[in-house]
Amino acid sequence: RKKIAVMTSGGDSPGMNAAVRAVVRTGIHYGCDVFAVYEGYEGLLKGGEYLRQMKWEDVRGWLSEGGTLIGTARSMEFRERWGRKQAAGNLISQGIDALIVCGGDGSLTGADLFRSEWPSLVEELVKDGKFTQEQVEPYKSLTIVGLVGSIDNDMAGTDSTIGAYSALERIVEMVDYIDETAKSHSRAFVVEVMGRHCGWLALMAGIATGADYIFIPERAVPHGKWQEELKEVCQRHRNKGRRNNTVIVAEGALDDQLNPVTADDVKNALLDLGLDTKVTILGHVQRGGTAVAHDRWLATLQGVDSVKAVLEMTPQTPSPLIGILENKIIRMPLVESVKMTKSVATAIGNKDFDKAISLRDTEFIE
Ligand code: F6P
Repeated sequence: RKKIAVMTSGGDSPGMNAAVRAVVRTGIHYGCDVFAVYEGYEGLLKGGEYLRQMKWEDVRGWLSEGGTLIGTARSMEFRERWGRKQAAGNLISQGIDALIVCGGDGSLTGADLFRSEWPSLVEELVKDGKFTQEQVEPYKSLTIVGLVGSIDNDMAGTDSTIGAYSALERIVEMVDYIDETAKSHSRAFVVEVMGRHCGWLALMAGIATGADYIFIPERAVPHGKWQEELKEVCQRHRNKGRRNNTVIVAEGALDDQLNPVTADDVKNALLDLGLDTKVTILGHVQRGGTAVAHDRWLATLQGVDSVKAVLEMTPQTPSPLIGILENKIIRMPLVESVKMTKSVATAIGNKDFDKAISLRDTEFIE
């Protein structure tokens, strides 16, 4: 019987529970034993009770639950080789040689590194006397499959990550609330949203709420000049009868000299215009709450495919990432996707913002 483990890692995102549910039930359907790794890579390092076999009914009701019920962590120890060796030992002790990881690009990069190091880690475990050569014989390779769980929608090669649409929905709801009070007082509001180095949440929320102006890292604003442009746009909208102004600022927003553009910087520019201006930092409210329908079906279809991928893979198949492109669930090499994602950060670092926009081509409007 094939033994598969599933875990969530990095920042939680709505839909992660639906993904775990799909993996557990699909695995059982195909006659596998499915384990959940509790507390992300930390649990993998601890082993024992952190690796629990899951039954069909253990995941009942998980489709609609927010957060991740098996826990998550941003593990520092797994970044160290000794940590990964310990994790390998715990997997072998439970007879597991396939791991499905639902997390962001950092978590998936770690997973792929784990897979490439696996043979040497196993060799060292034998040398250390933890296992005999016979015991490790069936564990010559580790199968890794990635599912992208992140509210940021920052992974290249997939149209949406599990959780992004739920966070977007939450942001839009909050901005709608803010707009009502803003209109009542004729105020301007600067709303800071999450997304780390990616502007997808800010851009889509801005379009969905009809914001006056949106700041994102990929379309950096001209240093020292953006204030005038912002003021001109907001004033123009006021002149046309708008009673409020809404400016959405991605937490990673930059000017073209790579200086951060903060919500307070934006507020100061609007105060300069004489507008009564407030700042709202939405924070972790964006990550909480139940998953929207999009994230539930996305996580479910991808969870099902991740188990199929495990069963179809040979040791030569590169670790796949399960994505969605043009409404089709697809598999792509995990390393390729991670490389493309990193190249967006590099393009921004090189102040090549046109390239950064084009690398996000499936997700961004120029
Ligand atoms: O990656 C998801 C995310 O919510 C980012 O948007 C944000 O920058 C970060 O995680 C916050 O991390 P933490 O919850 O560890 O503060």
